[in-house]
Amino acid sequence: MKGVVLAGGAGTRLKPLTDYTNKHLLPVYDKAMIYYPLWTLEKIGVREALIVTEERWIDDFKQTLASFRPKLNLSITLAIQTGPGGIVDALIQSEKFAAGAPLAVALGDNLFENPPQKAANDFRSNPNGANVFLTEVHNPEDFGVAVMKDGAIQSIIEKPETPPSNLAVTGLYFFDTTVFERIKELKPSVRGELEITDLNNLYLQDGRLTAHQIEGWWCDCGTFDSLVRASALLAGHQLETVK
Ligand code: G1P
Repeated sequence: MKGVVLAGGAGTRLKPLTDYTNKHLLPVYDKAMIYYPLWTLEKIGVREALIVTEERWIDDFKQTLASFRPKLNLSITLAIQTGPGGIVDALIQSEKFAAGAPLAVALGDNLFENPPQKAANDFRSNPNGANVFLTEVHNPEDFGVAVMKDGAIQSIIEKPETPPSNLAVTGLYFFDTTVFERIKELKPSVRGELEITDLNNLYLQDGRLTAHQIEGWWCDCGTFDSLVRASALLAGHQLETVK
């Protein structure tokens, strides 16, 4: 299984910092954010990873990665994100890199205390369908949210006004080799993007989506509050009052 880290996007909620650097190069505790999704991929046994980001940040990524490479047992390459943006648009850029291999796709701003090693080993030995990873949150309306029935996932709703559960779909996905064919079936959402949630729902409709609940803490670093929380968690402090 190869790995892809999606590290594009405007980082709107972290402006003005993201006017002059990429969100994934901002510090989280003692490292640049991009280190953590690479570490997640390494922990689940990935050895080849591709980072997709916009052309204007490529040199900054190269400089940052130079300090990580010796720490990670991972070959890392960079790809330029073209097109209108969005998670699935970035994922499309990895088709050549994937070269027919199943993929572990990590959003570059997602941190996991315990990367799901068992699920990764199971998927590697039988790479069929897709896997998503759920966790309980206080603010489900900010994420993709799982609709559950009798313990089974029924669908995923992207940022629902009235969340059907408190189970957020985190930014780590395993996809089999049908992923790029399925992406071709997607239509842009109301915000004009191809949505990762719609892609996962396509797998679900075919009965080929497995949902796991993760262990340990999870953090998405899209806002200033969540950056503080992520740094505190990494430093070993609990800041329960910070989202
Ligand atoms: C994206 C996904 C969402 C997911 C989240 C996890 O949202 O669209 O389903 O729950 O990542 O971080 P974004 O953070 O890009 O708004």
